[in-house]
Amino acid sequence: MTKSKPNIVILSGAGISAESGLGTFRDKGGLWDEHDINDVATPEAWQKNPTLVLDFYNQRRQSVIDAKPNSAHFSLVDLEKKFNVSIVTQNIDDLHERAGSSSVMHLHGEIRKAQCSIDEFEVIEIEGGGLEMGEMSSSGHQLRPHVVWFGEAVPKMNEAEALVAEADLFIVVGTSLNVYPAANLIYSCKKLCKKYIVDINELTNAKFKNLVHLKGKASEKMPELVKSIIKEYS
Ligand code: APR
Repeated sequence: MTKSKPNIVILSGAGISAESGLGTFRDKGGLWDEHDINDVATPEAWQKNPTLVLDFYNQRRQSVIDAKPNSAHFSLVDLEKKFNVSIVTQNIDDLHERAGSSSVMHLHGEIRKAQCSIDEFEVIEIEGGGLEMGEMSSSGHQLRPHVVWFGEAVPKMNEAEALVAEADLFIVVGTSLNVYPAANLIYSCKKLCKKYIVDINELTNAKFKNLVHLKGKASEKMPELVKSIIKEYS
């Protein structure tokens, strides 16, 4: 008798897109080595120098447009063909969607969208790569990147916690779990949930002690893990 089909929730971070050429944040030479968070990723930065903030995200957006999903992203598409898979990502790139994943929740926003700088619920797609000063929302206010900045609330956190609480398998991939509240999602798992983490580095974070660590590149370890899950539950 085959095991009942598990609910699978993925929590992804910058490490899943690293092999697509998109920089991570806290690795050596990462984005926060090159840029001061306080200059480009806080509401205060936006008030002080919105042009610098727009330039920072315009550069990152062009890199996202030029990037392609890698085998880690595609392995999750294979997984959802057989199981109920929900992806909760901290990433603002659209590589999960471009790989073909159909259930993707962006905790920290989406770089290819803009929002009204006054009404956060007015969100539009950004055509092409740039968002410039003078581009206004329908209510006549400057558009800003649809990204959650440090110090801002994470609107989808409750929804994400509810998803993780239903998971039978919880797979963390490519995140240092250094940023809250996303990092607390690991505590939303139910007691019998099986937890894995795919990460290229040794795990220093105490949070990871109850997770099965598959040490290596996401592009290699994710397909391996997906294959073993499909074998175990089919
Ligand atoms: N394969 C697997 N893991 C990798 C790879 C790879 N090729 N490359 C890097 N990693 C791992 C690193 O070891 C690290 O644990 O990915 C993780 C990346 O961690 P961070 O750079 O901190 O990125 P992330 O955890 O996604 O950051 C969370 O912080 O700045 C905010 O909003 C931003 O969403 C971001 C959040």
